Amino acid sequence: MPAVVIVGAQWGDEGKGKIVDIFTEDADMVVRYGGGPNAGHTLVVGDEKIIVRLVPSGVLRKDVACVLAQGMVIDPRSLVSELDELERRGIDAASRLVLSDRSHAILPYHVTIDGLREQGKGAIGTTKRGVGPCYEDKVARRGIPLGAFRDPKRLRELAASAIAQWTPVIASLGGDVPNVDEVLAAIEPTRARIVKMLASTQPLVERAIRDKKKVVLEGAQGTLLDVDHGTYPFVTSSTPTAGGACVGAGVGPSRIDEVVGLVKAYTTRVGGGPFPTELHDGVGERIRKVGAEFGSVTGRPRRTGWLDLPALRFAVSVNGLDGLALTKLDVLTGLDEVKVCVAYEIDGKQTRDFPLDDLDRAKPVYRSFKGWKEELGGARTLADLPVAARDYLKFIEDEAECPHVLVSVGSRRDETIVLRHPFRAS
Ligand code: GDP
Ligand code: IMO
Ligand code: MG
Repeated sequence: MPAVVIVGAQWGDEGKGKIVDIFTEDADMVVRYGGGPNAGHTLVVGDEKIIVRLVPSGVLRKDVACVLAQGMVIDPRSLVSELDELERRGIDAASRLVLSDRSHAILPYHVTIDGLREQGKGAIGTTKRGVGPCYEDKVARRGIPLGAFRDPKRLRELAASAIAQWTPVIASLGGDVPNVDEVLAAIEPTRARIVKMLASTQPLVERAIRDKKKVVLEGAQGTLLDVDHGTYPFVTSSTPTAGGACVGAGVGPSRIDEVVGLVKAYTTRVGGGPFPTELHDGVGERIRKVGAEFGSVTGRPRRTGWLDLPALRFAVSVNGLDGLALTKLDVLTGLDEVKVCVAYEIDGKQTRDFPLDDLDRAKPVYRSFKGWKEELGGARTLADLPVAARDYLKFIEDEAECPHVLVSVGSRRDETIVLRHPFRAS
């Protein structure tokens, strides 16, 4: 299986970092295809915890080529500080990292605009990293491809033009209108380092796949945050779903061999927007505490709730999932009862579909499972799990009509039950 796409099947933070790191042990290349520094992917090795935002989660595997493809929006200052931090920890990422010269630059005014809007009544709880305004610029054809960093004159022209177009918006939001000299001065210290890493990444990725290299296409965010398919307008501004891998990296759909969906054993969401299975009681609080559900980018407490099978079936459908990697099963240990939403009731009628357009009116219908008390961290096969946990897993894959390929029972690499590794013969 040379090309495998990993996507979040919920609202992000499903554990993509951990699973991408595991799969890239056997890979030649890892490619981030969308989003930007709104992502926070956690890698735990031994006692060390590393959170990557822009750099792909395969970075810890020494021989793996790392690519940030053109679907991404990249804040040069965040990237450089992330690379410096990795270097301080003894990880040389810069020499293995290539950046698409067609990815778009997040400049300081994007961050300013994102922050100003989040103070107003249109706030949706973004990560305030400038991701939305940068994608707006790209689609409005006034963005700054990173390739412009090679040519200071062009960079100045593009920045001046974008700033002029944003000026009325910033002024109306009560912000200070940016000055092009200040913007350029802020990014100048990063420019030479960025330019060194630029490349046309589409042919690199496509060639690697054609040469039967093992390539992981690492998704960020999650299906329900997709700008086309998610809980709009409470979404991000990119395409985290599997199709986004084709567009964002420049790979035809026929070249993708497998799509794996990451799903937590329960649900979380950061920021605003509908969340029908959300818990507002002690159980939700307990899941947040035991699961350490606090945003890896912003530190915000994540909202917590039960697993939502209609939402998961939707994710299987819209991504064409071949397999599920289920994470954080261990977090449910100790609960007397584990619930899962199997359907929705709207106006007295039940539906098994995810009612994207009726989420405010839809009431979850739950099925209850017996909990388990055993610690799961030592489990390496399904047989090591308590029967109640196995019943829960079986129900999920039957209802989702998608088999588990992996079950994660702790944050460390070894706390994992691998059922079918995409790069290893079974
Ligand atoms: P991502 O954005 O999808 O990469 O996920 P995050 O890194 O934002 O959040 C997932 C969190 O759960 C991180 O703190 C991981 O270390 C942690 N994690 C991943 N898998 C497991 C697991 O199976 N059990 C537990 N307890 N923690 C996990
Ligand atoms: P990873 O890759 C969870 C959410 C924000 C907000 C909405 C829009 O770590 O799973 P944005 O800053 O993108 O304009 O915010 O999307 N969001 C995420 N939530 N995990 C993420 O990434 C997210 N990236 C964006 O909280 O609701
Ligand atoms: Mg995250």
